[in-house]
Amino acid sequence: IKTIGVLTSGGDAPGMNAAIRAVVRTAISMGIKVKGIMRGYSGLLNEEIMDMSIRSVSEIIQRGGTILYTARCLEFKEMSGVMKGKEMCEKHGIDGLVVIGGDGSFRGAQDLSNVGVPCVGVPGTIDNDIACSEYTIGYDTAMNTAMEMVDKLRDTAHSHERCSVVEVMGRRAGHIALNTGIACGACVILVPEKPFDPQKDLLDRIRYSQSVGKRHFIVVVAEGVGSAGDIAGLIQNTLGIDSRTTVLGHVQRGGSPTLRDRVMATKMGYRAVELLSQNIGNRVVAIQKGELVDFEINEALAMQKTIDERLLNIGHAISI
Ligand code: F6P
Repeated sequence: IKTIGVLTSGGDAPGMNAAIRAVVRTAISMGIKVKGIMRGYSGLLNEEIMDMSIRSVSEIIQRGGTILYTARCLEFKEMSGVMKGKEMCEKHGIDGLVVIGGDGSFRGAQDLSNVGVPCVGVPGTIDNDIACSEYTIGYDTAMNTAMEMVDKLRDTAHSHERCSVVEVMGRRAGHIALNTGIACGACVILVPEKPFDPQKDLLDRIRYSQSVGKRHFIVVVAEGVGSAGDIAGLIQNTLGIDSRTTVLGHVQRGGSPTLRDRVMATKMGYRAVELLSQNIGNRVVAIQKGELVDFEINEALAMQKTIDERLLNIGHAISI
């Protein structure tokens, strides 16, 4: 392999820049050239491609977002888009590609690998919802951001003896909600992986905490469960507890990556290039039992991740 491309795709995540940096510098140190592809697969199809040097990734390890920009590309879901992508790679001399993103991005990487452009996926999403990997780039930063925000909300909820209902990101995955809820001492944590019974899982829990002396309440809800506003309304109308809603939203996607995200991104980016340098494509880099491993994309996409039930139960046991 003489030249590789690197792109970021799907929702951005803090630490993507650290991964880009690792890819660029690892490749160059191995004598491989690197092209940066802007705006994910869209940039590949539109030829938004630039040469990267060791200096083009200076001063980015600490920056959130992605210097390559990101996009979701509908055209790449069609076979014609994938074939055009292959042509573009040939035209620009790109022999392999590192794709930093989530499951949707890996599907594109698989399609491109199948038509002869070896691709390696690097898990980058704040949701930690990539089944083959215990960890995804951006997850730690997002949780720490959410934790800081909920700590601030606790101060005011305490002063007013209110209930604060906080909605965190996670359309299909509750990992951010669960861990943030534990770290912030939430009395109720709601995740999309568990069916939600408003009476049993919300109102009874708060009522019990109230009966044993709790005067303010934190409810952390993943966005995939439903509207935080509705939940706050239910608490207020049923239990008479003054309630407020906060939707943290995209604040969780930004900010300087934590140490953990920077180190993970660096390891994963390095491994992705190592694989491509051996002409190995159609793989996703992952963390399993704390170790760096890799899987065939097909196999990775077929895996399923469950919510940490034990942690959920611990949360319930101590949030009284
Ligand atoms: O990155 C994943 C995620 O943050 C989800 O939790 C969320 O639902 C989604 O992205 C929102 O992304 P966007 O606003 O970019 O469509």
